[in-house]
Amino acid sequence: VHNRFALVGADFGAWTIDALKPVRGPGLDKAARLTVRRLASDPDPHPVVWRLEGQMSNLRYATRREVSDLRARQEGLGRPSARRAAMIPIKKSAAWWDLAQDERRAIFEDQSRHTAIGMDYLPAIARQLYHCRDLGQPFDFITWFEYAPEHAVAFEDLVARLRDTREWTYIEREVDVRLALA
Ligand code: HEM
Repeated sequence: VHNRFALVGADFGAWTIDALKPVRGPGLDKAARLTVRRLASDPDPHPVVWRLEGQMSNLRYATRREVSDLRARQEGLGRPSARRAAMIPIKKSAAWWDLAQDERRAIFEDQSRHTAIGMDYLPAIARQLYHCRDLGQPFDFITWFEYAPEHAVAFEDLVARLRDTREWTYIEREVDVRLALA
């Protein structure tokens, strides 16, 4: 369980939830704060509103060149300047999962340019993807982004561009949670 994480909505936690909006499908219940914690065997010490679990994993679609470009440009989580965050859990449709790997790659990058668009926002936006489709979770992915307040406008632009892609037509549930360290 060393790479498995819980993202917990509750009345405690380092991150304040500034906004919580359903984008497609059902949302999540209102919570005041959010914690990201490595999953341990000990239970949550206090009652929680919701808890999403996911694990870090390998890349699925990126080419050698994309992997190298990402590694050269991306920065890690936890930068002192990054006092804003977004958590956007996403579930894709059965139609997406019925496709073959090469068909998904074609939609994800050749048609939707997901990585190419995202690269425009590095290193300002730091990211972590958690996979949860195989964990019996309500979402397939939990996406997590951290940025400085002055990059909040750029982040909105990024999200708008991605939501306008063919890839996004395969998304059947998406919730947008915005956070601040305060
Ligand atoms: C900060 C800029 C971004 C970059 C550089 C980026 C890049 C990537 C990369 C490299 C992957 C994994 C590809 C693979 O498995 O080989 C990925 C997956 C994913 N990203 Fe992004 N991304 C960015 C922003 C976003 C945003 C803002 C969202 C949500 C609104 C998002 C949602 C996702 C999802 C749901 C996946 C999993 C897709 C799947 O496996 O079907 N990404 N992204």
